[in-house]
Amino acid sequence: MRTAKSIMGEGWVLGIESTAHTFSFGLVGPDGTPRPSSSDTLRPDEGGIHPREAADHHVEQSTRLLSELLVREGLKSSDLSTIAYSQGPGMGPCLRTGAAAARAISSHLDVDLIGVNHCVAHIEIGREQCGCDDPVLLYVSGGNTQVIARLDGRYRVLGETLDIGIGNMLDKFARGQGIPFPGGPVVEKKALEWLKKHPDASLEGLELPYAVHGMDLAFSGILGAANRLIREGNPLEAVCWSLQEHAFAASIEVAERALAHTGKSEVLLGGGVACNQRLRDMCEIMCSEREAKSHVPPRMYCIDNGTMIARLGWLEIKHGRRTELMESGVDQEMRTDQTPVSWP
Ligand code: ATP
Ligand code: FE2
Repeated sequence: MRTAKSIMGEGWVLGIESTAHTFSFGLVGPDGTPRPSSSDTLRPDEGGIHPREAADHHVEQSTRLLSELLVREGLKSSDLSTIAYSQGPGMGPCLRTGAAAARAISSHLDVDLIGVNHCVAHIEIGREQCGCDDPVLLYVSGGNTQVIARLDGRYRVLGETLDIGIGNMLDKFARGQGIPFPGGPVVEKKALEWLKKHPDASLEGLELPYAVHGMDLAFSGILGAANRLIREGNPLEAVCWSLQEHAFAASIEVAERALAHTGKSEVLLGGGVACNQRLRDMCEIMCSEREAKSHVPPRMYCIDNGTMIARLGWLEIKHGRRTELMESGVDQEMRTDQTPVSWP
């Protein structure tokens, strides 16, 4: 049974994001309007993200983050009509903390519960923010690198990384240089420093493998070769710049091919790596050459955030779906094309 409030579209939707390093609560209003999230990201002093440590971090932060969000928005818990959470894909222990919080809040308030697909949430917040209709999506995050288009009621993966995600590659490269997680923003900063010092910089001597395989991509070869450039004595800033140029050009090339194959005329960037200005610029250049339109959401909605979960929960509830308590388990391997897309 759905609750009267959610059927009548009266209440607010709370979204809970917990797939990996970030725990985040976000809200959309009764009409689906997003409000900024309240988030905290685990940043280990050394090493990568340990799923158990991340899950402990999420539990420790949850009460503070939720109360901060409700106070900031001037809402009471009784204003909520639906609790949405990331059901997958992600790290098991992290996903379970979000699902457990969602079940507890929805049972306590006796409101609807909806488990959503994290990857589809990245797409839908971008569509809402950019007002784009039927884009090819370049979804570039830590764990995922996919080129996606909507077809026959699903978001279909047209191409993807065959090994690690692009963000994961940037983070691993950075970690090897003593830069803590998340390394992507620091790689961007160092690349800019190189360009500032060398406005006419050339890639000669800084070449890396160009890993496009049809519609698919690969990043572990680029990572190994970038590490070799460092061992050979090239400056870190130069290698950061080359790494971005190669990895982003490969990703944009696949997005361009997807535009050509699908006949669509919009590209939407999503995922944490879409915060990167160089990637945004490359996408803009490619689109303008093809007379297509490039869309980039605000950075706070590119990185993992609870608001995108709330937005997708709002769409799902509006179109008649909800999650029963018995079906509220998590799915670490959930795929982008697994979720039926019943909304326009
Ligand atoms: P998913 O579960 O969707 O794979 P995720 O867990 O990787 O998500 P996101 O917040 O979507 O989380 O993305 C985080 C990634 O984005 C990290 O790898 C981080 O280094 C990268 N990133 C963030 N900002 C930048 C930037 N300015 N340039 C490059 N990479 C960035
Ligand atoms: Fe994400």
